[in-house]
Amino acid sequence: MRIKTLVLTAAAATTLIVGCSTAEKAVDTATKAASSAAAKVAPKAKPKLMNGASAEMLAVTCAGCHGTNGASNGPATPTIAGLEEEYFVDVMKAFKSGDRYSTIMQRIAKGYSDDEIAAMAGYFSKMPFKPALNQTARSETGARLHEEYCEKCHEDGATDPEGIVLAGQWVPYINWTMWDFANGVSQINSKKMKKRFEKMIAEHGKKSITELVAFYGSRSK
Ligand code: HEC
Ligand code: HEC
Repeated sequence: MRIKTLVLTAAAATTLIVGCSTAEKAVDTATKAASSAAAKVAPKAKPKLMNGASAEMLAVTCAGCHGTNGASNGPATPTIAGLEEEYFVDVMKAFKSGDRYSTIMQRIAKGYSDDEIAAMAGYFSKMPFKPALNQTARSETGARLHEEYCEKCHEDGATDPEGIVLAGQWVPYINWTMWDFANGVSQINSKKMKKRFEKMIAEHGKKSITELVAFYGSRSK
């Protein structure tokens, strides 16, 4: 009598287990079907922002390095708030192609479509540039060099928010960026800037970069 109950119980248990794994298999098959259906749809849907993340959602990924609202806590990561929209797009493309040298950004930039980059460019360009103040003692030589070779495009001592701001950008970042230009590690897209930059180095030597960096890093407001 006792044995029979045990056997019955064991049989019941077996049924339960079998039932359970059958149910699991069913769920599994359904999931596979659903995900293969999703996979068929996904490649078409991905580049379209309407079906994906908003610029604000995309920008969350950048905050870990570039700071909340694009204002970096430095020193080797630039502030990206207030970057000119067109420049933002160009530099992301240059990171992708390697025209602009990067330690990190090539890999990151490659993860975004043109539409996503354009959306982020619009989003960050509308934020105010928040300068990192007084990182260096002001170089008068740097101020003069800037006036002669750079002011034409980077106006108001490179503080003009409508242009590409250099003054108050983090010093280690701007320093390496300029050395990468000077050493040909990064390409300067703007032909006119390339000419001016090369002229300055031909006439004043590479030490002019150090002077300029000291000028840009001395921003006080
Ligand atoms: C892991 C840190 C990290 C993350 C995350 C990151 N960046 Fe960067 N970013 C950098 C660094 C460092 C540089 C300087 C270039 C380099 O060495 O890679 C840079 C440079 C840039 C520049 C050039 C700025 C200039 O003044 O020329 C842009 C634009 C930029 N990042 C956009 C983004 C966007 C958009 C995201 C998010 C999708 C992002 N970054 C995520 C670290 C990061
Ligand atoms: C004819 C206009 C022009 C002149 C003159 C000019 N620039 Fe530029 N600058 C630009 C443009 C356009 C860009 C966008 C980068 C590019 O070429 O793709 C830029 C970008 C830069 C950047 C990269 C900014 C960043 O956030 O990473 C630096 C640094 C810079 N310029 C420094 C200088 C210096 C220093 C001088 C003077 C020796 C100078 N520029 C003269 C137009 C100019």
